[in-house]
Amino acid sequence: MSVRITLLPGDGIGPEVTTQAKMLISALADDYGLSLEMESALVGGAAIDEKGDPLPAKTLDTCRRSDAIILGAVGGPKWSDPNALVRPEQGLLKLRKELGLYANLRPVRVHPKLFAASPLKPEYLDGVDLVVVRELTGGSYFGEKVEGDKFAMDSCTYTREEVERVVVRAAHLARSRSGRLTMIDKANVMATSRLWRKVTVEIMESQFPDVKCDYLLVDAAAMFLMSKPASFDVIVTENMFGDILTDEASMLVGSMGMLPSASLGSGSFGLYEPIHGSAPDIAGKGIANPLGMLASVAMMFEHSLDMVEAARRIESAIHQCISSNECTPDLGGNLSTGQAGAAVRSRLDGYIPTGVAHG
Ligand code: NAD
Ligand code: IPM
Ligand code: MN
Repeated sequence: MSVRITLLPGDGIGPEVTTQAKMLISALADDYGLSLEMESALVGGAAIDEKGDPLPAKTLDTCRRSDAIILGAVGGPKWSDPNALVRPEQGLLKLRKELGLYANLRPVRVHPKLFAASPLKPEYLDGVDLVVVRELTGGSYFGEKVEGDKFAMDSCTYTREEVERVVVRAAHLARSRSGRLTMIDKANVMATSRLWRKVTVEIMESQFPDVKCDYLLVDAAAMFLMSKPASFDVIVTENMFGDILTDEASMLVGSMGMLPSASLGSGSFGLYEPIHGSAPDIAGKGIANPLGMLASVAMMFEHSLDMVEAARRIESAIHQCISSNECTPDLGGNLSTGQAGAAVRSRLDGYIPTGVAHG
């Protein structure tokens, strides 16, 4: 099989974790005899510095010609002047929009060895295994904007179709897991949320009567995510709420560096990135946790390359590393980013498929 992957390292710790993704992808490509082409391209602040544009046309073109994209992170203090006309984050948003990647899957699974890394008491963390399906190309991120010194506006808009397609995707996911979905909105205040609620009720009643759907207001949901996180299975929510709730959810797992994501559209093509940012406070120190990125690589093998065993091998290797405390300092370990990435690669063969007897 021939596979073309675009690497977008970006800014801050982005390049540090992307290097580990590249090495992991190469190792698995060797194992499975893939004919692999990996090309790096500019995005974010690095692209502004070189080309004056956070998403140069050449980058977008390279992305369009690939099977999947791996992205590190964009942004940082160098490009954060509120008066600046271009910002790194615009590059990422344009990429998501241009490629039609409307569904952002953010799984949150807690490893018992990491209970101590979380600020929550262990009894709240036991059994946490949820997925947030964040709508990614609508809402206030993409509505009309007015930017001035006396007045500013971000309009939040959603169409029925935008809500439908992501809710259907989340409902299918819920059906394939425990059969429970939670839709999170702010229907007591926002018109867009009332549209979300109406459309979700209709879809769930007509197409997914077997999936149990609960509805929560986002403020209460933020609380329940801390007070009873194990009660959630699949969550579906709009763009901004999903962004905020998943940073909150990273604390269940113990570090921002842990959560992966897959941004998907209608086909198998996808963009894979950890949910964290460029982490300016630790950039260049060689201590960034690469596990969120490496778990994103696993999601790429599963969703874009249809290589489920490779995905499970990566997840198992990450699990084994955490079990034996082969971790970066954010998780209480003492490995560098490079050592943590190497540890994952060294454990790829420790995967035992379920259902296979070993005597
Ligand atoms: P951040 O996620 O970069 O960092 C928040 C905290 O988490 C920091 O203390 C950081 O050190 C820690 N952290 C993050 N990733 C880590 C990792 N892999 N290992 C260990 N610790 C890690 O959020 P921020 O500081 O608010 O944002 C910094 C910049 O990143 C901003 O410009 C923001 O716009 C951008 N950002 C980009 C993305 C993206 O590219 N997808 C996501 C979020 C934020
Ligand atoms: C994320 C980030 C982005 C977002 C920023 C960098 C535009 O926070 O991927 O979670 O808000 O979507
Ligand atoms: Mn975010």
